[in-house]
Amino acid sequence: MSTPPVKIAPSLLSADFVNLARDVAAVEDAGADWLHVDVMDGHFVPNLTIGPPVVKALKKVARRPLDVHIMITNPERYAADYVAAGADVLTCHLETHPDALELIREAGGRAGLAVNPETDIAPVRDMLDRVDMVLVMSVHPGFGGQSFMPEVLPKIEALREWGYTGDVEIDGGIAPKTIGDAAAAGANVFVAGSAVFGSDDWAATIRTMRETAEARLGVSA
Ligand code: DX5
Ligand code: ZN
Repeated sequence: MSTPPVKIAPSLLSADFVNLARDVAAVEDAGADWLHVDVMDGHFVPNLTIGPPVVKALKKVARRPLDVHIMITNPERYAADYVAAGADVLTCHLETHPDALELIREAGGRAGLAVNPETDIAPVRDMLDRVDMVLVMSVHPGFGGQSFMPEVLPKIEALREWGYTGDVEIDGGIAPKTIGDAAAAGANVFVAGSAVFGSDDWAATIRTMRETAEARLGVSA
């Protein structure tokens, strides 16, 4: 099996912003592998969230890698700032300025490349040596709590058919009921916001998702 290990990345967009440190500690104790941080600029997506100062504050308390997803029009302007603030993985969008990929690596981060649901994956094939992760969006970015779009899964299958053995992340509507099909397509990093933070037992939800994904990827726990 050449697919890398399953990682569950709860999205802090669905955490309690007044108690972020408490929720970070609790979701790490519940089994989170990465912490997904959604950065929105009010231009590329119709919502505003957080900037480098909050990433820097999170880095002080986080015990797991920060997986920072920048849904912003000008990632090349801010890439180095987010890496300096503590982003371990920094993912920009193909629909913006993927020149940011080189800036992320130069700054010492792992470079991710995201594609929106309506974006063709084909151009990514020639970019795979410039990326450390590909993120396939399974909702239109901007908000948590939206419904999973299974029609994006062939993009993940294509990445694996091309021989890509790096991390493939899927983001949007991932929950115990949807994670299996995403894993079967070849995804191994799973962002889940409302499904984790909206559940009564975060540890049980993460465990169920991990077990389901590992079973569908053919990896034993
Ligand atoms: C959407 C964000 C997601 C979002 C996922 O624009 O990129 O990371 O927080 O939320 P859920 O898991 O609730 O769909
Ligand atoms: Zn995200």
